[in-house]
Amino acid sequence: MGKKIRINKAISDCGFCSRRKAEELISQKRVTLNGNTVNSLATLVDLDNDIVEVDGETLKLKSKIYILLNKPSGYVSTTSDEKNRKTVLDLIKVKQRIYPVGRLDYDSTGVILLTNDGDFANLLLHPKNKIPRVYKVRLDKSADLDTLKQLERGITLNNKKSKFEKIYPVSRSDKINFYVECIEGRNHFVKNMFQKIGFRVLKLHRESFAIFKDDIPIGAYRYITENEVRKVKSLYV
Ligand code: URA
Repeated sequence: MGKKIRINKAISDCGFCSRRKAEELISQKRVTLNGNTVNSLATLVDLDNDIVEVDGETLKLKSKIYILLNKPSGYVSTTSDEKNRKTVLDLIKVKQRIYPVGRLDYDSTGVILLTNDGDFANLLLHPKNKIPRVYKVRLDKSADLDTLKQLERGITLNNKKSKFEKIYPVSRSDKINFYVECIEGRNHFVKNMFQKIGFRVLKLHRESFAIFKDDIPIGAYRYITENEVRKVKSLYV
């Protein structure tokens, strides 16, 4: 048996219409469940096994799926690539169509989420939600912390005032490896910030994104639990 949810939610989750509109359709007796007219708004449906029709049109119900991948280097984080490079989807064996939430560069590693839940992806990517990201970077040459602190105070990048929330060395005497905390999701943001002040990022690993940490080996993935999804929604909405 698959997961059961309210029928109006199932109808809206599969993209047919809003939940309210689905309730109207049910009240107008235009919705059937396994061939029988639905009479109650409280009806539950099994996303994997039930057949729901509206005006005789069969809906393709879908269960929500959430995955955390610890991305290895050498994979693009798009669903297809014009240069035919491997994509993060090649690492994940699921039937549903999912897509990455935001981007990590081809050579970057670390936490990337994948889902088929557009609302969840939007919540995590919308700048107003200020979702924290923590990166570990390796620079091409020694850097004084004083020099790097200007990135905390803020610089202009592509005509926009841009900053890291925090930057600090991985260990006290380390001048090459740093942790960077930021709430920016622009593509190549971390590399571009360093480049603007004369440094190249040789390695970039995302240690965490929102509440999710790189708690699995590189190249492995795990399912995100319903509790974690709920927690993200309660923290950031
Ligand atoms: N910033 C970058 O420059 N690259 C990444 O992959 C992620 C953040």
